[in-house]
Amino acid sequence: MNLLLFGAPGAGKGTQSSLLVDKLDMVHISTGDLFRNAIKNQTTLGREAKKYMDKGELVPDAIVIGMVEEELKRLEGRSFILDGFPRTVPQAQALENLLVRHNTKADKVIFLEVPNGVLVERLAGRRVCKNCGAVYHVSSRPTQADGVCDVCGGSVVQRDDDKEEAIKKRLQVYSDTTKPLKEFYREQNKLVELDGTGTADEVFGRIQAALKV
Ligand code: AP5
Repeated sequence: MNLLLFGAPGAGKGTQSSLLVDKLDMVHISTGDLFRNAIKNQTTLGREAKKYMDKGELVPDAIVIGMVEEELKRLEGRSFILDGFPRTVPQAQALENLLVRHNTKADKVIFLEVPNGVLVERLAGRRVCKNCGAVYHVSSRPTQADGVCDVCGGSVVQRDDDKEEAIKKRLQVYSDTTKPLKEFYREQNKLVELDGTGTADEVFGRIQAALKV
């Protein structure tokens, strides 16, 4: 089974992807994580993406689509979760073509619905490990020692795009550009709309029930 995880910034796509990967042994492809790795490794792609990400804007379609195609080539028949892609209608159309070319398809598109007030609280309180990427939250999932990753001991910081101005911009871009994709997938009968509020385990329970896994 191949899945697309879709929802606003802070809806819990990364959190739920990790739980799904642990349970179902799937490959997690997060375009946001791929860009953050490229930035960390100071590649040309990373330098280009950072210009957009720090402002809360989308990276141009051509860059994202090319990067996703490279990831799909590496799958070798394994199931995948696409997290944060597609985010525009041209990306969704390009994905259809890529999946046909790689002889595969997306089975379900999981949409996590979360009210804006909760999204802002989750994003402003998120902290991530600079070293291993583990995700925390100052109140719902704090680290044991202040600023130190429980997993690897790396330093835990706020993402540049989790600052107030960038959060506002990301939510606006989401509502203008990405949310309309819901209709695209509803028409294909692939959309599974779920309540993304409550604890991460509660949301995961809803996903498992919807997918019957
Ligand atoms: P990306 O990294 O994909 O960011 P995003 O979509 O804005 O999503 P987030 O990572 O912010 O949130 P999430 O839904 O994964 O939530 P999480 O689980 O971490 O993209 C970053 C940027 O890259 C974009 O702005 C853009 O510039 C660029 N980009 C990426 N893809 C692109 C594309 N396709 N096209 C163009 N540009 C692209 O949870 C958030 C917080 O809440 C955490 O602290 C977590 O612990 C907490 N939390 C999660 N679930 C719960 C819960 N149930 N209860 C309480 N707390 C919770």
